[in-house]
Amino acid sequence: MTGQAAERADSLEFPARFVWGVASAAHQVEGGNTNNDWWDWEHNPRSGCPASSGDACDSFHRWPEDVDLVAQLGLGAYRFSLEWSRIEPAEGEWSLAALEHYRRMCARCHETGVEPVVTFHHFTTPRWLAERGGWEAADAPERFAHFVERATRHLGDLIGRACTINEPNVVAALGYSVGIYPPGLKDELGRHLEVNQAMVRAHRLAVEAMRSGPGAFPVGLTLSMEEMVAAPGGEEVRDAAEKIIEDTFLEAIEGDDFIGVQCYERRVFGPQGELPPEPGARLTQLGFEFWPQVVEHTVRRAARVTGIPVVVTENGVATLDDAERVEFLSEALRGLHRCIADGIDVRGYFVWSLLDSYEWHRGYHSNLGLFSVDRRNFERRAKPSASWYASVARSNALVPVD
Ligand code: FCB
Repeated sequence: MTGQAAERADSLEFPARFVWGVASAAHQVEGGNTNNDWWDWEHNPRSGCPASSGDACDSFHRWPEDVDLVAQLGLGAYRFSLEWSRIEPAEGEWSLAALEHYRRMCARCHETGVEPVVTFHHFTTPRWLAERGGWEAADAPERFAHFVERATRHLGDLIGRACTINEPNVVAALGYSVGIYPPGLKDELGRHLEVNQAMVRAHRLAVEAMRSGPGAFPVGLTLSMEEMVAAPGGEEVRDAAEKIIEDTFLEAIEGDDFIGVQCYERRVFGPQGELPPEPGARLTQLGFEFWPQVVEHTVRRAARVTGIPVVVTENGVATLDDAERVEFLSEALRGLHRCIADGIDVRGYFVWSLLDSYEWHRGYHSNLGLFSVDRRNFERRAKPSASWYASVARSNALVPVD
């Protein structure tokens, strides 16, 4: 048997207390989030968004069912986000009802044996802050920290683990350089870099706010990471991209309890910039190359640069072919297992996503969920990959199926 075949034949055990989870985000599943910048962007003809998030998966009402799905799969954790614009609908005005809503979610997680992993900002900013500049407003980091402090005061005793900001690097890059996320600016590198800095500051203030309690849960940032490869002559461009997109953040999180790695793709850079995937490359619905190896690459890089524990807070694949999802996740987990075997401190892995949900500027045509959602009646249906993932979690091991 070759080395590789031996590895495939054996079951790959994960460490005791390794956390198996699944993730979602408020705006992608709740529905009716009409009071934030994304709602405005979806309805702005300039955005090119194909659909409004609308009712999404109606999780604002169906959240008990969602939490139960996670529990029924036997997963250890559910990562979801708080919708800031519900909790603070106008500046300084707090909705006790919204805070209680999220408190009930956390409580149900505990009742069903699921750790609530709470993200405080997942792409959406309340309209009142967006109207005065969003992350460019001079006091945006303080406003965010104030929200974090208020929400933690209400929920902290029930939070299992917290992520301050989801992919600040994506908010800044897609909002100020690429122009497909609000506020939709293109090629504004100076402003992009300033927003990077504002978000680093917001993150630091948020960590401080959470650490003043109540609760004593691990806190980290989640970062979108990619396998960035240089084609011949593309080294400088690749290094510059890595610096702006990843290192700015990886180097600013000293003292955090973990780094959340979120990864989906490989990108290749030539001397003039990014190159499209090779003709004939296997692509996912997101137009990315099918590249599960990205997990191993990014986890190793995050651990090397930060020196702190890693949690893969998002990984998955957009496909209508669910067997392809199992193939992708298996390959990703084999890579993750190699990282752990080499001594990297990896604490958990979260599949993106629990449900097929609103995929931002792509609307409803990307299928990343372990469950499909019937858009006529919100009925959730488990895909075969859901029971496959449940068996991985239950055995705490990757057992070859073929
Ligand atoms: C990540 C986002 C998440 C989802 C996945 C596919 O960048 O955090 O909300 O859209 O990509």
